Amino acid sequence: MQIPTELTAQIDEAISHYPVSKRSASLPLLHLFQEHFGYISEEAILWIAEKLELQPIAILELVTFYPMFRRTPPGKHHIRVCKTLSCALAGAEQLKADLCKATGIPCDGHGGCHGGTPGHGDPVAVSPDGKFSIESVECLASCGTGPVLMINDDFYEAVSAEEIPNLLSQYK
Ligand code: FES
Repeated sequence: MQIPTELTAQIDEAISHYPVSKRSASLPLLHLFQEHFGYISEEAILWIAEKLELQPIAILELVTFYPMFRRTPPGKHHIRVCKTLSCALAGAEQLKADLCKATGIPCDGHGGCHGGTPGHGDPVAVSPDGKFSIESVECLASCGTGPVLMINDDFYEAVSAEEIPNLLSQYK
């Protein structure tokens, strides 16, 4: 695993915020790694643990506890569909199934996907061409305009099945 100079500088800067306990830099470092590499590999867990002078289990338990950390690579464009109550009532499960169909991600028709090994700590399903990945997430803080989703950092509200082709076509 190559750590580019720019990332090294960001890591050192993050650690400098926690002069009393380097352990407190664990979450910031995990975010930096996921931002750069797209996911948290086994190698990354070992690297961070060594850097912070911790046992690898201290990092692994964070990665498996917080669902926003991915343990496998996402697709080129990552879709997050809100699954919390308001969006669920507004049809989020069907929307996710429609998105799976449109992107080629195997889906059971009930919001479950089988393109990867989804589950806690590893919730991402990826399309066969690697272009899209999808996961269900908790509330995206726009409960009155469901169903809500994000593609990469872009936010979409009240998304209908009819909009899906146009939506996805914006991501090459
Ligand atoms: S329930 Fe979906 S954004 Fe809050």
